[in-house]
Amino acid sequence: MKKLSLSKEYDLLLKQNNICRLNSSDIWAYPNFPHQIVNNYGWKIHISAVLTNAIDIAQRFFNLNRKKCWDFKIIASISELERLNLGYYGNSQVGKFITIYPKPQNVLETLEILHYYFHNEIGIAVGSDKSYKLNSNIYYRFGTLLSDIKNIDHRDKTLHPFKDAQKIPDYDLQHYHKLPSRYLILKVLKHLGPSGVFLGLDVKFMKKVIIRYACKYFNIESSNIDEADRLLSSSNILNTNEILKDSGFENIIDTFYLDNSVVIVTEFIEGESLDELAMSNKLSTLSLKERLNIFNQILFLINKLNKLEISFRDLSFSNVILSQDKQAKIIDFNYAISKSGISCFAKNSINPAGTYGFYNPYEQSIVEFPDRFSLAQFLYFLVYPDTYISFMKNIDIDTSYSEIVSYLKKAQKKKLPKDLLNTYSKLIHGKYIDKLNL
Ligand SMILES: Nc1ncnc2c1ncn2[C@@H]1O[C@H](COP(=O)(O)OP(=O)(O)O)[C@@H](O)[C@H]1O
Ligand SMILES: [Mg+2]
Repeated sequence: MKKLSLSKEYDLLLKQNNICRLNSSDIWAYPNFPHQIVNNYGWKIHISAVLTNAIDIAQRFFNLNRKKCWDFKIIASISELERLNLGYYGNSQVGKFITIYPKPQNVLETLEILHYYFHNEIGIAVGSDKSYKLNSNIYYRFGTLLSDIKNIDHRDKTLHPFKDAQKIPDYDLQHYHKLPSRYLILKVLKHLGPSGVFLGLDVKFMKKVIIRYACKYFNIESSNIDEADRLLSSSNILNTNEILKDSGFENIIDTFYLDNSVVIVTEFIEGESLDELAMSNKLSTLSLKERLNIFNQILFLINKLNKLEISFRDLSFSNVILSQDKQAKIIDFNYAISKSGISCFAKNSINPAGTYGFYNPYEQSIVEFPDRFSLAQFLYFLVYPDTYISFMKNIDIDTSYSEIVSYLKKAQKKKLPKDLLNTYSKLIHGKYIDKLNL
């Protein structure tokens, strides 16, 4: 579209949404509802745009804001946007197409909503701000909202957030361009396109670590959640106090950005996964009581997560490591979700997730505790490890879901002993089980 028609269309859009300048020399236009800013200092959010997507971004923002009613200002015309992005109003102003003033208690929620809403657009970096989760359009900073009575934000430099300001986990993450020298890569455990899992060495503590990384946009869902977002969510969950304190979950050590990727570093757990133990026939050499003890440990950990309103969603033999002293630990929180905070992914609809044999994608979105289905399957395979082996041998990347269901039926012909069958059916139907009496 030509610049002149862009301008006309933009002017019309502002007019239709009752957004106008307060006086003719103003470069900003405002909505006609009264300003709601009450504090002198706080978080503010900037949405950036280039000339070619400004109208689309503005239109979508107005649609969203019909429900959200955020206080905001927007550049008054396309020619002002051009000047703004060229640095005409100072380099610190570049990219500030829309400024949002969220309520102090809703900053994180607002950033999350905007992040998924404008996930895949082109934007311009806002020099004075941090990009939110590597987003090209969403930037935020702590600064002056009303009058700068303390004279601390005289020029447009970054203020440190006050102690009572809402915590934004992204704000504390470092951005690197190469792997910090604290970590050495020892071995590639898994490398799939723009994501991977490495065995590493933490030179600071001379301990082995697991380094997971994912590039932005990899493995993206229709609601714009990508693998980098999932890693940030798993970091968030693993950093919850109750989870940090429990040695049954892999311990998180570090989270940072590396160019266009998210990296999380967790402890390396010495031992073997239940998958490895089952496939090498070692699991069946443990007594039934020992295997049921593993089940009780996992049941306790999953119940703990569920009480914290977290669904793990990927319980499987591959995601449980048994240490030498037979302690079971849960790893790989990428698909875990929670009811609030950043791990609810701004309440967007989330694709089903899980591991073949351990989940039911159709039920996942409708049942309250999808992990209980996985626990039931987990119990079955612990009692009969040979059924796990025969099931897994049929599965590869091309197996369809209906084939998986029929292989599973074939593999799970044996009936569980009566008392365990009772527990199994309760779990399959999403009921709570405290523990097995051994
Ligand atoms: N904390 C850990 N300690 C030891 N080994 C781990 C740990 N995390 C992952 N691994 C190993 O790396 C493999 C892949 O990691 P995971 O995060 O489960 O990725 P994915 O499920 O996508 O393959 C695991 O199956 C396990 O063998
Ligand atoms: Mg895994």
